[in-house]
Amino acid sequence: TTTVTISPAALGFTAVAKNKNDVVTVPAGYSVQIGARLGDPIANGVAAFANNGTDTNYAQRIGDHGDALYWYGLSAAGARDDNASTRGLIVQNHENINQQYLHVAGATSTGGIRPEAEALKEIECHGLSVIEYAEGANRQWAYVQASSFNRRITPNTPAVFNGPVRGTDFLKTAYSKDGTAGRGTINNCANGHTPWATNLTCEENWAGYFRRSGDNAARSAKELTALSRYGVTSGSGSYGWSTVIASDAANTTFRRWDARATGADALADFRNEPNQFGWVVEVDPYNPGAAPRKRTALGRMGHEGCWPGNFVAGRKPAFYMGDDSRREYMYKFVSATAWVAADATNADRLAMGDKYLDAGTLYVAKFNADGTGTWLPLVFGTGPLTATNATYPFASQADVLVNTRLAADAVGATPMDRPEWTAVNPVTGEVYLTLTNNNASLRPLNGTDAANPRHYNDPYGTAGSAQYGNPNGHIVRLREDGDTTEALTFKWDIYLFGAGADLDPANINLSGLTADNDFSSPDGLWFGRPQNASGLVKPVLWIQTDDGAYTDVTNCMMLAAIPGTVQDGATKTITNTGSGGATATQATRVGAPATAATLKRFLVGPVECEITGVDSTPDGRTLFVGIQHPGEGGTPAAPTSHWPASQSGSAGATVRPRSAIAIITKNDGGVVAL
Ligand code: FEO
Ligand code: CA
Ligand code: CA
Ligand code: CA
Repeated sequence: TTTVTISPAALGFTAVAKNKNDVVTVPAGYSVQIGARLGDPIANGVAAFANNGTDTNYAQRIGDHGDALYWYGLSAAGARDDNASTRGLIVQNHENINQQYLHVAGATSTGGIRPEAEALKEIECHGLSVIEYAEGANRQWAYVQASSFNRRITPNTPAVFNGPVRGTDFLKTAYSKDGTAGRGTINNCANGHTPWATNLTCEENWAGYFRRSGDNAARSAKELTALSRYGVTSGSGSYGWSTVIASDAANTTFRRWDARATGADALADFRNEPNQFGWVVEVDPYNPGAAPRKRTALGRMGHEGCWPGNFVAGRKPAFYMGDDSRREYMYKFVSATAWVAADATNADRLAMGDKYLDAGTLYVAKFNADGTGTWLPLVFGTGPLTATNATYPFASQADVLVNTRLAADAVGATPMDRPEWTAVNPVTGEVYLTLTNNNASLRPLNGTDAANPRHYNDPYGTAGSAQYGNPNGHIVRLREDGDTTEALTFKWDIYLFGAGADLDPANINLSGLTADNDFSSPDGLWFGRPQNASGLVKPVLWIQTDDGAYTDVTNCMMLAAIPGTVQDGATKTITNTGSGGATATQATRVGAPATAATLKRFLVGPVECEITGVDSTPDGRTLFVGIQHPGEGGTPAAPTSHWPASQSGSAGATVRPRSAIAIITKNDGGVVAL
């Protein structure tokens, strides 16, 4: 058995200063290598990436906007090895695109029609990748271009549906007339993993890709309520893919992005295509031929991530999930099946997913003002989840799962300040949730509650423009009563508040942040792999930012933390200030303040990036960090970042930026951050 200790715990590096340099900055004594980048070829015979807009065949290249990532070890013989630290597979999501850099002179359309070749590139840059990595001599890392494990899953990759929604009318389209099949996955953001070594990739902002307007007369009142609640309202779709006049006669590759009811019935068009997205999708990284399985029991929403609680033999395991939009909710799924530890090594990994992920109970969180909380079950036929519900009459459990947000509204869950990643302390089982920010229009001065308590104007950001609300975000955490994933109640507090170090310590900078650890808009969140080289457990919490409020001061960053425990701080009443100087008070629960020993900035990214995605090798000596969309505000003629080319010196003024993985090692060979 493993010796477990959470103290003494000290962060063994010098904090990195905030900066706006076009490089990844790490502490003294650490080195940065560059892993796979947007466009890198992942099979033999695929041309090197020209990075000038002429490249094609992205289904055999690394996608754009690398997001959450996870390491799956490989033995020397090329088999699954959970302890392997020098050879493995990295599964990484490709959430979105910097459209302008994918084409020679930016995206084009003629008379509102997108060119087929441009749209295909954009589609194939989404999804996820499974890529082999290996450590060579002198700790030099590289991805393996010719690996037979390498795989791209794009929005065009055949997928199957599992769970209660499979085969129901909700999923029937011209492509899948029996509602059991789908194609691919899109806007994959954060992730999760399972003890049986699969990856859970999560579909977040899928709604905007669809064109849907002008078909209200052909839609039922229920459908209109649901489409509105999920934001499937665009008149064009994000990139206009449905406008393509395609070379394939059926044109299902592009026409599917037009969700208007135009045919005789749902089997003749793609009115139900939006129901095919918004799911948690299970992928077996060790089996490149296996179709992804969409796990409908976990609900349909803007799934940010799906992190497992600690698995205990004989207990029903849980997965914790955020729905990332302003005023959305936190969820957990509890399997119907108690955990059998031997299943961790079952070679039929997706069958283990069938066993644990296709039946169970989906709950949504209610945070009470007294520091307690309740998991509210979303079960058809109970409470307001019936056919007589006035807002949305539910007809079945499939209806509840497809319209999870409406069900959560009905049961009275607590709307939150944009729930992003969840992370689980491997020692205590405590669950952390980033709440990245909120604004005054969606959460006004008098719309605060104990779990979303702040409202103020952030003086940073675009000069002169007020950013009232909770522009800097916070991190809430909870501990299940009885320390079991099966619990129906919990205790909570707010672990950390984002803020500039110079902001009001009584009402805004409530965690006592300093120049060495101040930050804004937490998003990515991950407890480091527990095993260090000496077999001890020191759970370092890594916090990544996706910030729009503090970027006039610093690029986005990653911090390392040694967190305390739920309710280790105090209750406190703060005074909020809205526009025009109006004030209101709000009581909340503030965790113990951060200290120089327990929270430090580890990394600052390049210009206009988000830091998102982090994992390490099991030995903790190599850290992989996702650098997403550097230079997102630039143009092909004038890129605003040249990273990663800029990492090793000055790059040419027109070198285009690329999302990529930064690989970070400690020069003395030790465990990162300790
Ligand atoms: Fe894709 Fe909510 O971040
Ligand atoms: Ca995110
Ligand atoms: Ca974000
Ligand atoms: Ca992003």
